[in-house]
Amino acid sequence: MQSGDLEMRLILIGPQGSGKGTQGKLLQHEYGWLPISSGDLIRARIKNDPSFDEKYGISKGNLLPDDIITQMIKERIKEKDCEKGYILDGFPRKIKQAEVLDTMIKVDYALLIDVPDKESIKRLSARWQCKGCNKIYGLNEAPPKVCPCGGEVYQREDDKPAAIKKRLELYHKETEPILGYYEKQGKLLKVNGKGTVEEVFEKIKKVLGK
Ligand code: AP5
Ligand code: MG
Repeated sequence: MQSGDLEMRLILIGPQGSGKGTQGKLLQHEYGWLPISSGDLIRARIKNDPSFDEKYGISKGNLLPDDIITQMIKERIKEKDCEKGYILDGFPRKIKQAEVLDTMIKVDYALLIDVPDKESIKRLSARWQCKGCNKIYGLNEAPPKVCPCGGEVYQREDDKPAAIKKRLELYHKETEPILGYYEKQGKLLKVNGKGTVEEVFEKIKKVLGK
């Protein structure tokens, strides 16, 4: 790793199922940058307090209010394990969130992993995730009943068809406009998310200049 990478602050943007979580883990393995998934933070919160989901309808595909998710990210990136750089997966996903993030940190790059909606739906319908280590399984890697870490492997509530539809609608309406926001800053990188996990990873390394 080059010394300049130590403070990498990378944002992953992409529709549901584009592979943000999958590629974030590969980047962590290769470069040591910590992936921080806003969705994983929210699901951990719901695990401790199910009324949080009843209140905000996350499993139905709704977004959490900006001030709450922003505060969660703000607290998380202060932790010591973020020192070697980090990858924000799922935050920001609105222009307003991107503007607030700019007052908190200096973003290096925003990387779009793009796939068509049809591919998102196909992948999410086959996705399973570990409750312990958050490892993601799917079409590319069949899920075991129990993860090697010992955690339970489950299907996300928001991977039901109606919630997937809602999440994709919100992505196109609320999140896609942030691409222009980062493009204007000269920070937007793009890869086509179709292909195998390994092929997409190679494309990501290339646009990052690795
Ligand atoms: P979040 O958890 O962030 O979900 P998401 O953005 O909808 O994205 P996903 O996790 O569904 O997709 P992914 O791109 O990570 O794909 P993955 O790598 O798993 O957010 C959940 C909810 O939290 C939101 O709906 C919202 O309510 C709330 N929230 C989060 N952030 C918020 C914010 N900023 N503001 C407000 N609310 C917020 O891959 C998917 C599947 O495909 C897997 O099975 C994987 O194995 C497979 N796969 C990956 N790559 C490939 C490939 N190349 N070929 C074949 N299969 C592949
Ligand atoms: Mg994810």
